[in-house]
Amino acid sequence: MQHPVQDYLSSLVDRLRAERGGELATYIPVLAEADPEKLGVAMATVTGRVHCAGDADTEFTIQSVSKPFAYAAALVDRGAETVDDAVGLNPSGEAFNELSLEEQSKRPDNAMINAGALAVHQLLVGPFAGRQERIDRVVGLMSLLAGRRLTVDRATYESEMGASDRNLALAHMLRSHGILHDRAEDVVAGYVAQCSVLVTVRDLAVMGACLASGGVHPLTGERVLPSLFCRQVLSVMSTAGMYEAAGQWMAHVGIPAKSGVSGAVLGALPGQAGIAVFSPPLDAAGNSVRGVLAFERMSEDLNLHVM
Ligand code: DON
Repeated sequence: MQHPVQDYLSSLVDRLRAERGGELATYIPVLAEADPEKLGVAMATVTGRVHCAGDADTEFTIQSVSKPFAYAAALVDRGAETVDDAVGLNPSGEAFNELSLEEQSKRPDNAMINAGALAVHQLLVGPFAGRQERIDRVVGLMSLLAGRRLTVDRATYESEMGASDRNLALAHMLRSHGILHDRAEDVVAGYVAQCSVLVTVRDLAVMGACLASGGVHPLTGERVLPSLFCRQVLSVMSTAGMYEAAGQWMAHVGIPAKSGVSGAVLGALPGQAGIAVFSPPLDAAGNSVRGVLAFERMSEDLNLHVM
């Protein structure tokens, strides 16, 4: 007999397959070639049970879902004071690639938007780290949390590097305010590599469970992150992880979450589970249409809203 959660996820995928709507991201050329029919769901509990349904073994690039993990790594490497000096803790209410800077401090509003993620990426390892060291650090942490060695997809990396005007503009602007110090090209290249890491929904669910558990790996019992930093990451995911739709998301779904332009949505339910959905077509805010629907249904059916 199958586990009831497994049965639930399978029926959820069956119901969601009929849902239409949304557009593939096209500003990164390779993402426009994604199969819009792919749909996978996974849930990993903090006690180490993993349930998957649909296209759970399909690999896709992590994109912005890497941002909470890079943020966690920067907090570990540099401490909260240094990180908070460079990146704020408030929602921007704007699109993910806007230059949202705080009025007074000129810091990016938060670590979930591109401006904040570029600032976070530069903080990785230490003040004198090079491009490859920072990439190795963030890929290394994500691999530790996923429980397998993750790799950068060269084709996606090259495709996005060829279409990086917006991120380069953000990086140059951050340099002009003294938030970035390295060459704009180096920080953008490292950040794009971070976004080009290949994962499955199973990987993401397990990675999310590491945040949900307060930093204890659900499969090994090993402490992988300090609980205080997990709390900070989940807090910023709650207020800014779904960009300009973050408030609506919290009201309707009520799970700290992060979306990515490849079509992934990762939720981390404190004390309970990591949950991931992958379906490439996106809504106007850049969030997966079927990903949002899946979370709305799971939240209601399984009573997952944190409030
Ligand atoms: O920097 C970018 O534009 C992409 N590498 C990631 C953006 C992203 O995933 C936004 N999320 N919906």
